[in-house]
Amino acid sequence: MMDGNLQNDIEKVVEADRAHVWHHLTQHKPFETGEPRIIVEGRGMRVWDQHGKEFLDAVSGGVWTVNVGYGRERIANAVRDQLIKLNYFAGSAGSIPGAQFSEKLISRMPGMSRVYYTNSGSEANEKAFKMVRQIAHKRYGGKKHKILYRDRDYHGSTIGAMSCGGQDERNVQYGPFAGGFVRVPHCMEYRAQWDLTGEDYGQRAADAIEEVILAEGPDTVGALCLEPVTAGGGVITPPEGYWPRVQEICRKYDILLHIDEVVCGVGRTGTHWFGYQHYGIEPDFVTMAKGVASGYAAIACCVTNERVFEMFKEDMTDPLDYFRDISTFGGCTAGPAAALENVAIIEEEGLLENTTVMGDYMLDQLRALQDKHKVIGDVRGKGLFLGAELVSDRTSREPVPEKQAQAVVAECNAAGVIIGVTNRSVPGFNNTLCYSPALISTRDDIDQIVAATDTALTRVFG
Ligand SMILES: Cc1ncc(COP(=O)(O)O)c(C=O)c1O
Repeated sequence: MMDGNLQNDIEKVVEADRAHVWHHLTQHKPFETGEPRIIVEGRGMRVWDQHGKEFLDAVSGGVWTVNVGYGRERIANAVRDQLIKLNYFAGSAGSIPGAQFSEKLISRMPGMSRVYYTNSGSEANEKAFKMVRQIAHKRYGGKKHKILYRDRDYHGSTIGAMSCGGQDERNVQYGPFAGGFVRVPHCMEYRAQWDLTGEDYGQRAADAIEEVILAEGPDTVGALCLEPVTAGGGVITPPEGYWPRVQEICRKYDILLHIDEVVCGVGRTGTHWFGYQHYGIEPDFVTMAKGVASGYAAIACCVTNERVFEMFKEDMTDPLDYFRDISTFGGCTAGPAAALENVAIIEEEGLLENTTVMGDYMLDQLRALQDKHKVIGDVRGKGLFLGAELVSDRTSREPVPEKQAQAVVAECNAAGVIIGVTNRSVPGFNNTLCYSPALISTRDDIDQIVAATDTALTRVFG
């Protein structure tokens, strides 16, 4: 129970928010009569809103970000100390935490060598796109500049990143988009595009990429940009056989491979630091953001291998030869200072292992729910990154109307558990419940999340 003064203050906060804040991804009409949600405090896996109501957060800050949980004083202290010593200097110079974090990160990414700091996942992806285009100009007279992206994948909210976006509902009304981005089919077996299963399906889905390359002309295609496990497009784990074939195709046509680890990166998928490391992939670019510092400070990185880096320092006499790019807040020191502690916590607390064990447990529990509720058509996931796709008919796999999927989320919310759902993503497919609890999750936490989902499904679907 909040005391009177605090209650008064929080009412003012709610009023200020209602009057002036434009919330992300939100229709504001309901706030004319109702209240926006204000999250006031967080500890571990739990957050409290303006009414003091406690929630178990099964989505790590709403968008798979707070990987080590809330209230980590150790990260806050490291950031504070660093801010007092040096808060900022442009990224054309180095910084102590920037150098230290790059070394730590690269030691966990065999084959990669350079870290370019920026401040959001979208921006990290834009950096990779710019590098690909500059390489095309430096090496191929501008011809090999096209970037392939996949149906259902998402790479960010800027116009450039949306030009590379495979979620049409996000893009509606925001065009025209940039040219030079070409779509390839998704690899989701549950929504099969070919009458095959298992490894045959995976290889066929990868062959579909080759077909696009051949249609465009391999000498025009510079890079392929993919999420290792697609997030907002439906939590899509790749089918067997997919990644080895994708890698083979990239090598065959000298196409740079850009892996977007904005969601999967830094432990989310368990066992390995990055999603791509489960599949033996050797990327040229790896972009990351959300979990890098668990949201304690803004930090994103575009990481490259030495082969890419070398192409930007070939000719000292050419004033245009190097990567002519800057990100103002890429020079903030709070990000790498927080990221250093974040990675140390993951290691010291064994969170990669915990994520695998708890992820497997949660997958089993969700599959048990699938036996009970016929509305769950499919359960997918890797580590603590899971989805349950809701269908009105298991045979036709017709997605449930999005209002019903949202009703499940609302029921969980009312019961004090925050879960997610694919939202304004693939038209007609805003029907996958999303779970990404912090890497510190315990069995009890997962039992609560699954129990809330169970009750919510019963209430909405009977
Ligand atoms: C896979 C993926 N890439 C990129 C982004 C964009 O990141 P940001 O919102 O930090 O720009 C997101 C955000 O959800 C994402 O899910």
